[in-house]
Amino acid sequence: MSEIHVVSKDNRQLYKSYFDPYFRLRHEIYVKQRKWMALDRPDGREIDQFDTDEAVYLFCIDGGRLIGGMRAVPTVMPNLMSEIFPYLNIREPIQRPDVYELSRIFVIPERRGEHAGPRIDMLLLTAIMEYGVSTGLSGFSIVLESWWLPRFERCGWKAHPLGLPQMIDGMSVLAVLVDCDEATWTSLCGQIGISKPTLTWRGLAGVNRRTLPDLSLPAPLAVQPVQSTLHGVGHCAT
Ligand code: COA
Repeated sequence: MSEIHVVSKDNRQLYKSYFDPYFRLRHEIYVKQRKWMALDRPDGREIDQFDTDEAVYLFCIDGGRLIGGMRAVPTVMPNLMSEIFPYLNIREPIQRPDVYELSRIFVIPERRGEHAGPRIDMLLLTAIMEYGVSTGLSGFSIVLESWWLPRFERCGWKAHPLGLPQMIDGMSVLAVLVDCDEATWTSLCGQIGISKPTLTWRGLAGVNRRTLPDLSLPAPLAVQPVQSTLHGVGHCAT
């Protein structure tokens, strides 16, 4: 059974043994397989300047083995879009506490395109939406290859381009801002056949977050505000 774990500076110690295999896997996948040679390092680990204490990782773990992952970096910190690819965003630079930048999504080759259960990439896309909604984010910025766009469209991720695609090292790459909202999370859960939050927050009891609902239970009746001035109150204000 695959579990998706949230790993941040607050619980990194508990996942210490996973980090070396994680960075080695990234090297194997991005440098050796995808041939992104700018990321090459002689020590066989793919680590960059955005792997700081502030980065949050989703680790997909199955039977004690890391089989997929994703990285989220607060946009108030230096990130790929702000430092390496600023020209891809022709709008206002994104530097907001309610937006994290996603990068380094991967699934190990032998677990890609699975049909026996939820696909691992879909689990990760659902899990990061759960993370964002739980912690009050309103969006994710991403620098991505354009082949992601139809995939996002199919699974209901709402991606807004921030500029036109450009050819970089033979790849068509663009910057997008993706909405983070509960409706998208709910729809993703339906697509992959789960009915409740799935993230593992081991050692993160102190993190300020909202627990998302069990979708198999009837939604609680909405309490009608007595005065009509009480409207537009949301947890994800932009
Ligand atoms: N170029 C173009 N399309 C790609 C692609 C690439 N490098 N990698 C995946 N795709 C698209 C294709 O449409 C592919 O369909 P195909 O089977 O007709 O080729 C589809 O995604 C399915 O991809 P697949 O790799 O079979 O499995 P998946 O959906 O389970 O996993 C990834 C998708 C991206 C998570 C996985 O391919 C991966 O880990 N890749 C390496 C890491 C990576 O490149 N991450 C993205 C940048 S951070």
